Amino acid sequence: MATPTRPGAELTPGELAARSGVAVSALHFYEREGLIQSRRTDGNQRRYPRETLRRLAFVRVSQRVGIPLAEIRAALETLPRGKTPNRAEWAALSERWRTDLDRRISQLVRLRDDLAFCIGCGCLSLDTCALANPGDALGALGPGPRILDADPGSAPEPPGARTGKDAVRPHPRPG
Ligand code: FES
Repeated sequence: MATPTRPGAELTPGELAARSGVAVSALHFYEREGLIQSRRTDGNQRRYPRETLRRLAFVRVSQRVGIPLAEIRAALETLPRGKTPNRAEWAALSERWRTDLDRRISQLVRLRDDLAFCIGCGCLSLDTCALANPGDALGALGPGPRILDADPGSAPEPPGARTGKDAVRPHPRPG
């Protein structure tokens, strides 16, 4: 028996999951988060427009490069409801996000370099470890991980912090 045609060749959750490689539970999550939309049939079953495949690809690719869901949602909200980014829109969005990616890559490189001083040390000294928070002095600058969140070159300096090459020095080991 032939499969009944659906308006605009809509996809069931199972079909969309099979075509996109995204689990049905994840589809429901993305829908709750406002990233994709469905309509309900008379029997209260979800039906997704075929364009949702491309929209899901956009979401997955964006997530893969570390873009938070809130930003992905905000980007999609700049498009007409239900519209999927076309080639030009995706190019514009990805260009905008490249700046953020560059910033995060710089942060990770800085953390990796700081961590190099800690490997094999283990002191976690509040006085000398670059990855520790000396005396919780950074707490006065606001909530959250102040060093980890800071832009490269603009990391907040706690009162009395050392600068230059002395700023990062493994804790001397006894003996
Ligand atoms: S653990 Fe970071 S300098 Fe010792």
